[in-house]
Amino acid sequence: LKKTSQQAISAAYPAMRPRRLRRTETLRRMVREIILTPDDFIYPLFVRPGKDIRKPIASMPGQYQFSVDTLVTEIKDAASLGIPAVVLFGIPDEKDACGHDNSNPNGIVPTAIRAIKDAVPEMIVISDMCFCEYTNHGHCGIINTPGDTHYTPNLPEGYLLNDATLDILGEASVVHAQAGADIIAPSGMIDGMVGAIRGALDVNGFDHISIMSYAAKYASGFYGPFRDAAESPPQFGDRSQYQMDPANKREALKEIALDVAEGADMLMVKPAMPYLDILAAMRAEYDLPTAAYQVSGEYAMLHAAAANGWLDLPRCALESLTSIKRAGADMILTYFAKDAVRWLNG
Ligand code: PBG
Ligand code: ZN
Repeated sequence: LKKTSQQAISAAYPAMRPRRLRRTETLRRMVREIILTPDDFIYPLFVRPGKDIRKPIASMPGQYQFSVDTLVTEIKDAASLGIPAVVLFGIPDEKDACGHDNSNPNGIVPTAIRAIKDAVPEMIVISDMCFCEYTNHGHCGIINTPGDTHYTPNLPEGYLLNDATLDILGEASVVHAQAGADIIAPSGMIDGMVGAIRGALDVNGFDHISIMSYAAKYASGFYGPFRDAAESPPQFGDRSQYQMDPANKREALKEIALDVAEGADMLMVKPAMPYLDILAAMRAEYDLPTAAYQVSGEYAMLHAAAANGWLDLPRCALESLTSIKRAGADMILTYFAKDAVRWLNG
C-alpha cells in the first residue's frame, strides 16, 4: 500500500535521511571529514646515556628508553613510516639543582640531536625545553633554596624562580639549536618563556628556528607514566605552582594570547583528550598551527583496557587520534605514532 505524500513529509517519515550517506564503506569514505595521515604525528622519544639500551617502560607498553645508537635506529624506522617529526626527552646520568645537563653541548639531548641530524637529516627534531628531567628536585626550573646562588629571601622557599629560570631556558635553547634542533618546545609553563627563548635564539643567530609553545599545559594526573619514563617526578610538592588548574578555560586563552604575543610559531594544548574544549577554543581564536599532546596516561589507559580485553586497541587509538584532529589539532604528539601509521596502512 502506498503512503500519501502528506505522510512522506510528516515528522514520522523524515525527508532528510543522513543515513543515505552511510550506506556503504565507499560512500562513507567519500564524505569523511577527517582523515589521519602520517604527517599528523609527532613521535615522543626518551634518550639516556649508554650504548645498545632499549629499556622497556613498564607503564607504557611498546615505549622504551633508548641510548643514542638505538634511538637513531628507532628514528630511521619512524622515518620509513613517513613520520615527519620527533620530540626528545633526556634522562641524564647526573642531575643537579640547575639541571646543567640540559645546557651542556655534550649533554644527552644535544648529543642525540647531532646523531639524529647526521643519520636522518630530514627528520624534524623538536626539543622539549624544560628542566624537570635534569634537576635533582624534579621541578621545571630553579627552586628558591637557602644557600643557593639564586636564593631570593623575599620569595617563599620552594618557589620556582621565574626569571632565573628564563635565563637558563634561553641558554639551553641556544645549545639545542646549535646541536641542530629544528623546533624548541618550552613545556614548563614559566611566565615569559616564549619571549625569553625567542630573544636568546634571535641574538645568537637562530632566528630561523621556530618555537612550539606548550601554551596551555595543565597540572594533570595523566602525566603519571611519563614521570616514570623520564625518571623526573617532583621530589617535593607538585607542579601546580606553574602548570594550569584543570578547571580553567578562560585562563588557557590568556596563556595562549601571551605566547602568541611573545612570538610563538605553533601552539600546543596538553593533555589532549580531556581538554578537547580548550583545543577547539584555541583553534577557533588563533590562526597559528596547533598541536595537541596525547600524553602518557592517555596512552597507558588505552593499553591497559586493551590488555584486559575491554577495548579494541587499534580502533580506539585511531578513534582518539581522529577526535583530537577533529577538535582542531594540526599535529598530534602521540606515543601511538608508529602503530597508528601501521594501522592506517591496514
Ligand atoms: C616536562 C614534560 C612532561 C611531559 C612532557 N614534558 C611532564 C610533566 O610536566 O610533568 C608529559 C608528557 C606525558 O605525560 O606524556 N615538563
Ligand atoms: Zn618540566
